[in-house]
Amino acid sequence: KIRAAITGVHGYVPDYVLTNEELATIVDTNDEWITSRTGIKTRHILKGENQGTSVMVVEALKGLLKKTDTNPEDIDLVICATVTGDAIFPDTANIATYKTGMVNAFGFDLNAACSGFLYALTVGAKMIEGGMHKKVIVVGADKMSSIIDYTDRTTCVIFGDGGGAVLLEPTTEDVGVIDYQHHGDGSGEKHLYLIAGGSRKPATVDSVMSREHFVTQNGRPVFKAAVSGMSDVVKKIMARNNLDAENLDWLVPHQANIRIIQTVSRMAEFPMEKVMQNIQRYGNTTAGTLPLCLHDYEPQLKKGDTLVLTAFGGGFTWGALYLKW
Ligand code: ACO
Repeated sequence: KIRAAITGVHGYVPDYVLTNEELATIVDTNDEWITSRTGIKTRHILKGENQGTSVMVVEALKGLLKKTDTNPEDIDLVICATVTGDAIFPDTANIATYKTGMVNAFGFDLNAACSGFLYALTVGAKMIEGGMHKKVIVVGADKMSSIIDYTDRTTCVIFGDGGGAVLLEPTTEDVGVIDYQHHGDGSGEKHLYLIAGGSRKPATVDSVMSREHFVTQNGRPVFKAAVSGMSDVVKKIMARNNLDAENLDWLVPHQANIRIIQTVSRMAEFPMEKVMQNIQRYGNTTAGTLPLCLHDYEPQLKKGDTLVLTAFGGGFTWGALYLKW
């Protein structure tokens, strides 16, 4: 059976570092509150005029091509998970394939908020398993600073900008994407949304004045749903694949809040030492968190290591995916 193996990973965050101390000069907050409630110390911000998410996607793709010594003309497909594409259209995957010389690739964006990379990885793996495509790139990236209200202390401390990409190739070895389980619950929209700018409520002077182009969130219900959604699906994936605290090498959770990560690890009875975390440095980069984790932990990963990736995000959307490195 053909599986999709991850044969390379590369992450990218922009240079500018926004610290808790700087945030405390913008809104009524402080390092102690942010650190104890979220675990976040710094996040990276993409600055400058006309700098969209594609800037970070292009950097991630270029790094990935270089690292894997891949000719851009050999890439078949790029799937870009994002909720902050450069524009409503054209899609960011197409902008990035053009800018990186992937002349034989087609691309599209996928929107599943913080679960975007997980869903896109699943789609990319199926495209490889189908036998039609030999080199597929799955990228997750978000410029959250473009949709965050920096007068709202309940959201602006959480999010950051960044992303990463993986290369998928067919393999007959015992590695690659093995299993997944994903879920959705549209009733979650009332707790986490960006109301204006889409077709239901196009931009008007009113929508801008009412700050409706920014993320709105009820933190508590999102926290609860994230913990129960991720721990439930992780336990199911582990049980179905005979994985336990011993033979599962890494849990790779979406980086939204260190307390969510700790609670999921406890509920799944999985030790924190084997849970990937970098939220301290990047905050929540939405579709970017999982590939950024894989990038940061790559030096510690060995061929054949078992990984369960899990995410939860706006929608609500959530799921888990089991793979061997
Ligand atoms: N600095 C200081 N005080 C703050 C801040 C801040 N940045 N933000 C909120 N507060 C205050 C509140 O106003 C409130 O004050 P009050 O008691 O006087 O009313 C108090 O702190 C407690 O607020 P809560 O919202 O109850 O704080 P909580 O412990 O729930 O933490 C948080 C809030 C961090 C948002 C948490 O609920 C959370 O992480 N939720 C999950 C949200 C999330 O991760 N969303 C991302 C998208 S989905 C996903 O990725 C999972």
